Amino acid sequence: MEKSHLIKTLRAREVLDCRGDPTVEVDVITDSGILGRADVPAGKSTGLHEASELRDGRSRYLGKGVRKAIQNVTEVIGPALVGRDVTQQRSCDEFMIELDGTENKSKLGANAIVGVSLAIAKAAANVLQIPLYKHLAGSQDKYFLPIPILDYIEGGKIASTDLDFQEHQTVPFGAKSFSEAMVMGSEVYHELGKMLEKKWGKHSLNVGVEGGYSPPGMTDPRQAFEIELSAIKEMGYEGKFCLSMDAAASHLYNAKTGKYNFRGSEISRDALIEIYQDLVSTFPLRSIEDPLQQEDYEGFAEVTKKLGIQIIGDDLFVTNPKRLEKGIKMGAANALLLKVNQIGTLSEAIDAAKLSFSNNYEVQVSERSAQTEDTWLAQVTVGLNAKQIKTGCPCRAERTAQYNELLRIEEELGSAAQYSSCKFFRA
Ligand code: PGA
Ligand code: ZN
Repeated sequence: MEKSHLIKTLRAREVLDCRGDPTVEVDVITDSGILGRADVPAGKSTGLHEASELRDGRSRYLGKGVRKAIQNVTEVIGPALVGRDVTQQRSCDEFMIELDGTENKSKLGANAIVGVSLAIAKAAANVLQIPLYKHLAGSQDKYFLPIPILDYIEGGKIASTDLDFQEHQTVPFGAKSFSEAMVMGSEVYHELGKMLEKKWGKHSLNVGVEGGYSPPGMTDPRQAFEIELSAIKEMGYEGKFCLSMDAAASHLYNAKTGKYNFRGSEISRDALIEIYQDLVSTFPLRSIEDPLQQEDYEGFAEVTKKLGIQIIGDDLFVTNPKRLEKGIKMGAANALLLKVNQIGTLSEAIDAAKLSFSNNYEVQVSERSAQTEDTWLAQVTVGLNAKQIKTGCPCRAERTAQYNELLRIEEELGSAAQYSSCKFFRA
């Protein structure tokens, strides 16, 4: 075994995410001095069944400090991992899962464990002197560059608007390459800004946490889709974009009444499904994430069957292979939203992706609403052969960091880069 593959030490520190909250950054250092560094993102519209992140509580950073998680990296996980081979991702991850011993990683903290897991992967790529995506994918003739799912008008918990659904997205599926998708996406984003300003006032140009516009007074998802389609048409891209949406319906659900809050009233599951049917028949809407609340597997199966479009499980699956397996058995959704920190290790996220692919489920790799400038998200997307990435708008640095990394990967791959296609995105 090469000496330089072995872990010598782990360091960790608090850094800030794009919301201005502290998060964990981990350095894995091998005994030849090679560094792997990874930052941990954080959600706001989180699922109930996600792995548990450790926060310090008390007054410092309004309770959001991560000193305990950092201490667990440096004093518990670090010493236990010394001497392990960074190229053996799975055995390192399994070791940490055992060391933690809880179902949801609440003892050591999922934010501590996932930071180490990702830093190990980056150290291994650096040791092997290959990009992370090649370390994960192995050598292939072609690599897919993902279709970007662009969240252009925000609502729900991630923006100060009156829109109930969280993300009203545009999808440049008809581009010839990832870089062309970025040209199209950027042009439409700016045109949309102009149109929103004219129709909904200058405050529309304030952006939510993923960079999407936040038009004041807009309450109807139809208004969001209509103006997005106008911007697409104005730029000459009709038929090359479709629409997509994250309803994030767990956050609209009232467990006491069993109903959903939508546009000021409480409506039943059936009424919500009718709204989706209507949207799908009116607009080129080809994908809905979390149309229903996170426990409703039967409802997801019904929506998947009725709508015949891509239905993505985010809060439903939380990147957890066990929850995904249940969904697959029941026909609930036909795509997985993959967020590495929802499950807490890279190996388990890879298992969830593989389980999806082998059951004909699509995989959309996703940002969290709080990201940092770290670009492992872009690398992991290509490394997993996922065909879609959701990482916000081409305008905030923590989002453009991912797009820029994908542009670099596309350039590096040259003719081995293939822009993804997806069976659900058709004109
Ligand atoms: P989160 O939201 O990162 O705040 O959880 C994103 C999403 O719901 O997809
Ligand atoms: Zn979501």
